[in-house]
Amino acid sequence: MARGKKIYEGKAKTLYEGPEPGTLIQYFKDDATAFNAEKKAVVDGKGVLNNRLSEFFMEGLNSIGVPNHFIKRLNMREQLIRQCEIVPLEVIVRNFAAGSMSKRLGIEEGTRLPRPIIEFSYKDDDLGDPLVPEEYIIAFGWASQQDMDDIVALALRVNDFMAGVMYGVGIKLIDFKIEIGRVWEGDFMRLIVADEISPDSCRLWDIESGQKLDKDVFRRDLGNLTDAYTEVARRLGVLPTNGPAAANSVIN
Ligand code: C5P
Repeated sequence: MARGKKIYEGKAKTLYEGPEPGTLIQYFKDDATAFNAEKKAVVDGKGVLNNRLSEFFMEGLNSIGVPNHFIKRLNMREQLIRQCEIVPLEVIVRNFAAGSMSKRLGIEEGTRLPRPIIEFSYKDDDLGDPLVPEEYIIAFGWASQQDMDDIVALALRVNDFMAGVMYGVGIKLIDFKIEIGRVWEGDFMRLIVADEISPDSCRLWDIESGQKLDKDVFRRDLGNLTDAYTEVARRLGVLPTNGPAAANSVIN
């Protein structure tokens, strides 16, 4: 499928105009960044794995009626998605303490939280995506109270789905981040899950060993990131036929 004009280049993905109005092509790069792009590397095969994994999770969400931007995968690195207007928030759901929550509150990583906790960061790289209370979001007009109620409901459904799927393959879903987009159907606005769901945006720990199978492997220099993501893909049965390395050499 012919790609249109490049319309946005992010840290891990590039968006191109799609074949029909209201569609985009999302291209998954091999670039890995952490700490607001202070740490960078190219990780061979990461884009191929995240394209497949995001497809798997978004299709699963679609099948249980959680609306999202995914239309279809086009090839090893690209998927066709619905164009939407991204709400400028990172929606983070935590089941166990880790990362910035552990640091901020001094709670040991891996401590089970009394219930899933949702938090919001304002999407702004220059500011380092600061954590913001719901009151700011509504007062500054980034989302309405009704939007926030819908976003919380969506986030909890994604959490239940992801936690269940991961549990089934021996992985604990510690936390994750999603982004939400607006689409218009006539005069009616709907909120849908957008961006990607992959080990770049989740914390995934092996239930037995506690081994990290997510981007913390890169952030904290814990080993080979492709091996970690390949393990997640293998357990879920979504590995490309000849493995990410083979796929990569065909694509590039
Ligand atoms: O760093 P922190 O503990 O706040 O991250 C919570 C979750 O959100 C982690 O799964 C992390 O991978 C994800 N996240 C993300 N993109 C960001 C910030 C956090 O995917 N910019």
